[in-house]
Amino acid sequence: MDDRRRPIGFFDSGVGGLSVMKEALKLMPNEDYIYFGDSKNAPYGIRTVDEVRKLTFDAVDFLLRKGVKGIVIACNTATSAAVEALRMEYPNIPIVGIEPALKPAVELNKEGSILIMATSMTLKEKKFNNLMERYKDKANIIPVPCPGLVEFIEEGNFEGQEVEDYLHNKLNEYNDIEIASVVLGCTHYPFVKKTISKILGDKIDIIDGGYGTAKEIQRRLRIQNLLNDEDKEANIEIINSSNKKEVLDLSYKLLNM
Ligand code: DGL
Repeated sequence: MDDRRRPIGFFDSGVGGLSVMKEALKLMPNEDYIYFGDSKNAPYGIRTVDEVRKLTFDAVDFLLRKGVKGIVIACNTATSAAVEALRMEYPNIPIVGIEPALKPAVELNKEGSILIMATSMTLKEKKFNNLMERYKDKANIIPVPCPGLVEFIEEGNFEGQEVEDYLHNKLNEYNDIEIASVVLGCTHYPFVKKTISKILGDKIDIIDGGYGTAKEIQRRLRIQNLLNDEDKEANIEIINSSNKKEVLDLSYKLLNM
């Protein structure tokens, strides 16, 4: 088979990475996609780094066995735990990770602080600390760990009272400061963007790294002459480690949201 016709693999701890795959689909509607969500083992953010690294390697091996031509680790947590080791193990495969989109937030150059919502692991790991180091003199950056938020989204709960209460409690303590923007440093969170906007008001920019990550896999595939040149519609396969039918139903719902 022509390598250019092979699918692009996406991986996340659960359904969150679909927020990234959606952006890729808009950019590259003629590619084929295989999405693997590890909802059985989610959330990753409360596991040890070694556990997340092992789960991520297993997922990548699975996608490679399915014949993908490139892989997007559409999970900030898995990226911080494993992306460097993965690139060393598979130097010839384009592997793109995701990190909190701090750069575009800083470049907005707005008055006020930048809140970074992410899992505790993402915020603790070296990758994020390096990112903080790079921008700490340019903006006041406040990390906001959000344990428990992934679980709402995994249950298909994006707009209900419960998730609103959770976000209210989380964001309440920043009521007295000026907020320039909020960075969604977890791929699940774009699915609660409306609720965050409702709480903070629609003047605050809410930024995620989905589009930038999709552009990056496109760039990497182009460099390796792996972009599909056929004029056709995308073929999408979604696989999840949880064998609950609701999880697959939720995945397709999120993809079309
Ligand atoms: N979507 C994952 C991320 O971007 C969620 C991690 C988790 O399962 O805790 O970090």
